[in-house]
Amino acid sequence: MQIIPPPRRVWVEVNLTTLRANYRKIATAVAPARVMAVLKANAYGLGAEPIARALVHTGVERFGVAEPYEALALAPLGLPVQILGSVLPEELPALVAAGIILPVTDLATAHAIQAEAEQQSRRVTVHCKIDTGMGRLGILIAEARDVIRQTVRLPNLDVEGIYSHFPVAYRAGEAYTQQQIERFLELLNDLTAAGIAIPLRHMANSDAINNFPHTARSPFNLVRTGINLHGSFDTEGRRVLNLEPVLALKTRLTAVRRLPAGTAIGYGLTHRLPRETAVGTISAGYADGLPLALSNRGYVLIRGIPCPILGRISMDYTTVALDQLPEATVGDEAICLGGEGPHGITVEDWANLKGTHPYEIICAIGTRVERRYL
Ligand SMILES: Cc1ncc(COP(=O)(O)O)c(C=O)c1O
Repeated sequence: MQIIPPPRRVWVEVNLTTLRANYRKIATAVAPARVMAVLKANAYGLGAEPIARALVHTGVERFGVAEPYEALALAPLGLPVQILGSVLPEELPALVAAGIILPVTDLATAHAIQAEAEQQSRRVTVHCKIDTGMGRLGILIAEARDVIRQTVRLPNLDVEGIYSHFPVAYRAGEAYTQQQIERFLELLNDLTAAGIAIPLRHMANSDAINNFPHTARSPFNLVRTGINLHGSFDTEGRRVLNLEPVLALKTRLTAVRRLPAGTAIGYGLTHRLPRETAVGTISAGYADGLPLALSNRGYVLIRGIPCPILGRISMDYTTVALDQLPEATVGDEAICLGGEGPHGITVEDWANLKGTHPYEIICAIGTRVERRYL
């Protein structure tokens, strides 16, 4: 007998129409600069391939990823795919063969890519990654002129781009970011003076698009955006673009009970019912991405009614109060994230409750949560 699997208990709806609308708003705001859609970490957990497919015909210039498996998964879609972080020597054979655009983070990497390209009788497109102040990866600004001069001489490399990244571009107007931009522009000037013209120049992430819009203007001609595509913004900073959230996290009520006054709810006995209460249990917990920080604080929406979370969120289940919803029954849909109107729950709401940023909230949506694309 063929077993037909039941519906998933927890699912995240990813609205691809909204995603494309967000893309168009970003593209319009930065034009004539082009847009790299940053889909690393499986598009922040929402599914890189379906999201890339939704964007592939919108005019998006390329896809940005963090590492080889992400790059190789997107290569068949036909748009350029670029690794933004670092590459390791053992990764080069596959990446060069697949035509992935690679980062040059130091001279040794440039030589390693050259050797592999020569070995495969191929040309490789590279972007020089400059550390102007992120302190994570890349060619130090003081060494950049020399490293780039040597890199452009390597016969199998096409130096298509040069880029850098911001650690605090959510702080509008802050001198640190402004200094990074100035260092980068000085470097570009020096390279031009040395007769080195690099076609693509990019620094802006979502934060910079909103807080340092000149990083999307000449001489910059590409921006790299991830979180804005999802309709989210960093915790701090301006929200210039009028974007819509793309995701909703949903589950179902799996139990509805009346519990007597004094009943303790969940691990740690962190809540005791002050009176007899209608209580529901939903089929989602921290393994699905509900932050533990929502324990005794957040709410879910059932039939549009906010139902406060009681006690500590557990791995697979969360208990909620149903006093405002006597008609609730097992099987009712519970919206953990999303929903319309004043009670809608956003990624930013959860990030504030947890004291984190929206990236961590989106990336924490669990692997057993079904991704449904609308
Ligand atoms: C180098 C680089 N560029 C761009 C981005 C996109 O950032 P955001 O999602 O804030 O737009 C990231 C993500 O962290 C990144 O690491």
